Amino acid sequence: MSPLRFNAFVMNTNSHIHHGQWRHPDAQQVDFESVDVWVNLAKKLEEGLFDAIFFADIVGLYGAGDGPYDVNVREGLQIPNHDPAVLLSALAVNTEHLGLAFTSNVLQQHPFHFARQISTLDHISKGRVAWNIVTGTLENGARNFDLEHLPDHEERYKWAQEYVDVTYKLWEGSWDEGALLKDRERGIYSDPSKVHKIYHRGERYRVDGPHLPSPSPQRTPLLFQAGASDDGRAFAAQHAEGVFIIAPTPEIAADNIRETRRLAVAAGRRAEDVKFYQGIAFVVGSTEEEAKRKEQELEEYLSIDGYLAHMNYAAKEDGTSYPPDTPLADVETNASKGLLTWLRQSITDHEPVVADVAALLSGRRIVGTPEQIADQLEVWQRAGVDGFNIFNWRIPDSYTEFIDHVLPVLRERGLAQTEYAPGTFRQKVFGSDYVNERHPAAQYRGTFGGKS
Ligand SMILES: Cc1cc2nc3c(=O)[nH]c(=O)nc-3n(C[C@H](O)[C@H](O)[C@H](O)COP(=O)(O)O)c2cc1C
Repeated sequence: MSPLRFNAFVMNTNSHIHHGQWRHPDAQQVDFESVDVWVNLAKKLEEGLFDAIFFADIVGLYGAGDGPYDVNVREGLQIPNHDPAVLLSALAVNTEHLGLAFTSNVLQQHPFHFARQISTLDHISKGRVAWNIVTGTLENGARNFDLEHLPDHEERYKWAQEYVDVTYKLWEGSWDEGALLKDRERGIYSDPSKVHKIYHRGERYRVDGPHLPSPSPQRTPLLFQAGASDDGRAFAAQHAEGVFIIAPTPEIAADNIRETRRLAVAAGRRAEDVKFYQGIAFVVGSTEEEAKRKEQELEEYLSIDGYLAHMNYAAKEDGTSYPPDTPLADVETNASKGLLTWLRQSITDHEPVVADVAALLSGRRIVGTPEQIADQLEVWQRAGVDGFNIFNWRIPDSYTEFIDHVLPVLRERGLAQTEYAPGTFRQKVFGSDYVNERHPAAQYRGTFGGKS
C-alpha cells in the first residue's frame, strides 16, 4: 500500500469543529491570535512530515441572518476569527516543506485581487499554497458582502465557475513562460510581447488584466474543494485536485469517490487527477483503556449547544429553533446540502433527528492504540481514500500525539512518508509544478497573445 497523506485541519479561531474543548487547560487554541501558537504547530507538523496545514475560514456568523448569535460569541465559535491568508505568510517563512492550504469563499474578494494575493503567497512560500474553493453557506456571510441574501445553492456554484475562470486566466494566460527577464544589460525587466491582458467579460466580472504578479512557482495554487451535493461534486470533478470528504463510513466514501472520479473522467480528466481526503479525529492511547479514558475526558468538555449552532440546522431561516425531535429529512437548508446528506446517512437504526447532530459530529473519531488506529486507516485506504484531514480537539496535543505515536506505526507499515519529496506542493502530490493539461485552467496557456 502507498503512503497516506496527512493534513492538519485547523482554523484561525478558538473553537473550530470540536466545540467546548478549548476549556481544557492544555488547549492552546484559546490564544490563536498569537502567531507563536501557529509557528510552533507548523514546525511540529513539518517534523512529522505532514503534507499540509489546512485552514478553514468563514466570513460571517452561523445561524439565521437576523437570528441570535450569543452561543457563537460566548463559546468563541469561529468568532473571533482571523484571516488565514495573512497568517500563512508568517508560516511560509518558518517552514520549508509544509503545504499551506487556506479556504476562501468566492464572495469575499474580487477574483482579480484574490489571484494577486495567491500569487504573492505562492512566491513567498516557494510554491506551497493551496486554495480550498468554497461557495459559502452563511446568510450573514453574504450580507457582509453587499448581498441581501445568500444566493441559492445552484447559483453559488455558477458564481464559482466564473470566479475560477477569471483566476485561471490571470494565473495561466496573462504571463507567458519566459516573460520575466530581469535583463539589466538590455534594460528589459519583462518582455512586453509576453504579458497579456485577459479581457474577461462575464455575468459578474469584468477584468482586463494583465495579472500584476509575475508567474509564481505553481501559477495556479493546488486546488481543494469540499462540496458533496450533486452540484458540488460536479464542480469538484471539473476543478478540484483534492476533495475533502467527511463520509460516515468507508463504504459511503467509496461510492462518493467512484462517482466523483467518474464525473472527472467525463469532464476530460483522469481518475487519478483527483485525490480524496477524509476528515477524521483521533483519540490515541497506549492501551485501549487509556484511549477510552481520554475519550471520556473529551466527552466532559464537549458543548452540544456549540455543535448545534455550528451546523445551522438547529435554526430555521426566521431564527426560531427546530424542535430537537425534528427529522433531519424535514430540515430545509440553503447551506451545505452535502453535509446534511452525510449526517442522515450516518444513522441507520432510527430516523435521524436534530438532537442527533452533536453526537454525530463529535462521534466522528477513531479511538484506540496506534496499531488499532493504523488498522482503521487501512480500511479507509482500501475504500479509495488518499489521505486525511485531521480534526483536532486541542492544539497542539491532537497533532503531537498523532505524530509521536501513530505515525511511527504507520511508517513501519509503509503507510506514511519517510521524507518529503522535493519541490512545490503540487510537485509533491502530483509530480509537476503546474496543473496538468487536462485541467480547465490549462486551456488559457498561451491564448491571450493575439489580443495584447
Ligand atoms: C469537511 C468540510 C469542510 C468545509 N469547510 C468550509 C470552510 O472552511 N468554509 C466554508 O465557507 N465552507 C466550508 N465547507 C462548505 C463547503 O465547501 C461547501 O460550500 C458546502 O458544503 C456546500 O456545498 P455542498 O452543498 O455541495 O456540499 C466545508 C464543507 C465540508 C464538508
